[in-house]
Amino acid sequence: MTNTYKLLVLPGDGIGPEVMNEALKISQCISELSGVNFVIEEDEIGGAAYDKYGTPLADETLNKALSSDAVMLGAVGGQKWDDLEFKLRPEQGLLKIRKELDLFANLRPALCFESMVEASSLKPELVSGLDIMIVRELTGGIYFGQPRGIEQLPDGSRKGINTQSYTTSEIRRVARIAFELAKKRSGNVTSCEKSNVMESGILWREEVSYIHENEFKDINLSHMYADNCAMQLVRNPKQFDVIVTDNLFGDILSDEAAMLTGSLGMLPSASLGEIDSKGMRKSLYEPVHGSAPDISGKGIANPIATVLSFAMCLKYSFNMDAESDIVNNSVNKVLSDGYKTVDLIGDDKKNLSTSEMGDQIVSEIRKNFN
Ligand code: IPM
Ligand code: MN
Repeated sequence: MTNTYKLLVLPGDGIGPEVMNEALKISQCISELSGVNFVIEEDEIGGAAYDKYGTPLADETLNKALSSDAVMLGAVGGQKWDDLEFKLRPEQGLLKIRKELDLFANLRPALCFESMVEASSLKPELVSGLDIMIVRELTGGIYFGQPRGIEQLPDGSRKGINTQSYTTSEIRRVARIAFELAKKRSGNVTSCEKSNVMESGILWREEVSYIHENEFKDINLSHMYADNCAMQLVRNPKQFDVIVTDNLFGDILSDEAAMLTGSLGMLPSASLGEIDSKGMRKSLYEPVHGSAPDISGKGIANPIATVLSFAMCLKYSFNMDAESDIVNNSVNKVLSDGYKTVDLIGDDKKNLSTSEMGDQIVSEIRKNFN
């Protein structure tokens, strides 16, 4: 059995480095307690990479990512780089690493911890026990489709163009991930598109149905228009188990689902590639929240989404399910003991800084390990 894993850490911009620091504390603690060794290398992405290398993702960084067992990412973006030419913007670094590693399946769990029920903008009974897994296609669709650009028209006005396109194989491989996940959960998949107005949506619906019919007949599949799904998420979110959808709808629906759980600061994500002949897959783990420039450098950011992203890394890349559960349970315990960062509703007397929250989770993990 392997007991060494190579982890590339890309803290990025804004609160990225602050929250990543806490995830690294957790990784060190898990390594110590489990005996599994994490060889950690750090590099830059986004604006920080532009400042250092003149590009939001340098080739040498990409090569490190390609030879790692997993990548942990903080966040990218910030006002400082807003005026850069489009190709050099921090976000392009993130899109490039997703594309180059072929991380086509983005798993975004929206899980409402019991102690967070009151922090949701919905009524407690609507979110108590909520456990949704959004599977967002991540390397296709309108984010990458050609043609794209801004054209000059003869009359002097301009035209902005982006293209939504999906192929059979792009849809089938992400559908399989969603069905596999549903097998280990409640066995329900909802596929979302706009097949009422888009041809790519018609193909999406047909291909998801094909995979269902031929490979996963035991799973319940339903189809829903993406706008209806947005509405159903706030009307009755517990009707969902696994949602599978395209890159753009997934971006939007996952932000919406995240907020149902009380704070965007709580939501982790895993981006996965295909399993190779050695049983390994490329993977990247990052919080769903962004770089939050307004609070960066203040030491108040909530590190939980990044800590939970590391827990996903333990599960999906290192086969350390037991350790992953311990991290998740420890976060739950710390929250239910009333500890919080400023974005959460909890006991005001137990208000913690970013690093105090990390320390609190570490001490809880130590108690849970035997
Ligand atoms: C996300 C983000 C990114 C996206 C941005 C930063 C490029 O919003 O991961 O959800 O749109 O995919
Ligand atoms: Mn987003």
